[in-house]
Amino acid sequence: MAAIQSRSDEQSKLWNGSAGCAWVEAQAMLDRTLQPFEDLLVQAVSASGARRVLDVGCGTGSTTRAIARVLGATGRSAGIDISEQMIDAARMLTELDRTSAEFICADAQTHAFAPASFDLIMSRFGTMFFTDPVAAFANLRRAGAQGATLCSIVWRSPEENPFMTTAERAAAPLLPNLQPRRADAAGQFGLADARRMRAILEESGWTAIDIRPIDVTCTLPESELTSYGTRFGPVGVALREADPHTRAQVAKAVRSAFDPYVQGDEVRFTASCWLVGGRC
Ligand SMILES: C[S@@+](CC[C@H](N)C(=O)[O-])C[C@H]1O[C@@H](n2cnc3c(N)ncnc32)[C@H](O)[C@@H]1O
Repeated sequence: MAAIQSRSDEQSKLWNGSAGCAWVEAQAMLDRTLQPFEDLLVQAVSASGARRVLDVGCGTGSTTRAIARVLGATGRSAGIDISEQMIDAARMLTELDRTSAEFICADAQTHAFAPASFDLIMSRFGTMFFTDPVAAFANLRRAGAQGATLCSIVWRSPEENPFMTTAERAAAPLLPNLQPRRADAAGQFGLADARRMRAILEESGWTAIDIRPIDVTCTLPESELTSYGTRFGPVGVALREADPHTRAQVAKAVRSAFDPYVQGDEVRFTASCWLVGGRC
């Protein structure tokens, strides 16, 4: 229990620290890159007829706002996130946008949601960071009304997502403090194992579990590639402690490692993910 608590604090610290800052600062670029997933979730909400939607690990809230626009004034689109700076940014962007999206700053694993208060629980890459995934998905299930559905997008394995690990492979020889990825631990690839994902959902009481692979082409501007490669994930964390010379060397190595993905002024990669469905 103490170990779970300290890992939970680790995630909270990360998302309320360097990772949260990096996501807020790169919000516009990340939202453009991840737009195809937002479109997919908006389609799922429209097709389901749901009127009360929860966006888990909503970050700066692009998907929450997109769903608020679809639901209109009579629907409810709520986002929950553990990161104060991400939620602050989400609220600010929502004010500018004049949508009715609402935001909760809390840990979705333990937050006391009103029982049976949502018809659809969805997420764009926000459910892989739970330190006790069974407890978290059970908590989310209780927030769902009878028959409510789950629609969560998570990454498949690092091997199936070479773009996502390009930076750390290039930077590893230069960064002795680079943290290795731990299989099945809270993190980007924490739910990459579909059998484990199914077992987590079964144990937390979800039914009609449906886990299917989706391969989505994403793009970002070449001009943002070095910043992208050095700000996120283990490289972003390790570089916080690096001196200027190492930072420059890493930036150079990382940028050239991404060459195979560059097409003119655009970067293209395939995001290999699971689309995870279930029913309360
Ligand atoms: C990869 S980001 C995705 C953000 C957003 N869904 C998007 O697509 O732009 C993961 C998000 O999950 C949030 N998160 C991590 N652990 C969480 C938890 N236990 N409860 C709520 N949010 C969490 C992080 O703060 C972060 O905003």
